[in-house]
Amino acid sequence: MRKKIVAGNWKMNKTLEEAHALVAELTGMVADEVKTPTEVVVCVPFPYLLPIKNQLGAGARVKVGAQNCSEHEWGAYTGETSATMLASAGIPYVILGHSERRQYFGENSSLLVKKIDRALGQKLTPIFCCGEPLEVREKGTHEGLVKQQVEEALFHLSAEVIQKVVIAYEPVWAIGTGKTASSQQAQDMHAVIRQHLAGKFGPSVAQDISILYGGSVKADNAKELFAQPDVDGGLVGGASLKSREFVEIVKGVA
Ligand code: 13P
Repeated sequence: MRKKIVAGNWKMNKTLEEAHALVAELTGMVADEVKTPTEVVVCVPFPYLLPIKNQLGAGARVKVGAQNCSEHEWGAYTGETSATMLASAGIPYVILGHSERRQYFGENSSLLVKKIDRALGQKLTPIFCCGEPLEVREKGTHEGLVKQQVEEALFHLSAEVIQKVVIAYEPVWAIGTGKTASSQQAQDMHAVIRQHLAGKFGPSVAQDISILYGGSVKADNAKELFAQPDVDGGLVGGASLKSREFVEIVKGVA
């Protein structure tokens, strides 16, 4: 179902103590200041998932998510964590296909198909990331590449199941660089993605899918980005590590 979502991707940051402190500040500010039904998610490192979920408590306003899961379900895969494990721990979201996973851990579309299927099979909500590197943007072939990423990882799904996926468009050149896509660049790509989904699954299904923007989202650019008709919120890296900044970003959703 299409809804407004702001998710923080903490990546590999914070001690457990710092994580608890950040979440305590965040939940207080969200409760006091966020008047919209925007879904707020924090995607934290694996060892913090349960402690943070327990800190948030049952029926919490802020939800917790993982940053990856295995393509396997069980077995001799040292160091891996499966979607089944996440589901058994009550974790509702998982980021999949982040560009850092693609770049540093060699994740490709055929692997991501398996991960997406594992996550959906366990009723987790995947936040599927796509986005082009700078050289592709400079060549002008970015729309084709992002369409291909979406197609390869998601077009095997049924029209019913695709609606359970959240898509995050994160241009690689905007991640951690302080160089945000302009709101027009974000809107243009989000419209391309939605149109591509409409071509495959039909317009009403495409209208029902949340597409988030990620890449140097900050308190001072969130509002304009989120005001675009096809931008349904954000996936926030660095700025999600500071409670005040992150809450101001959440408040950027109208
Ligand atoms: P930054 O917000 O730090 O640019 O990171 C974006 C990101 O990778 C979110 O997944």
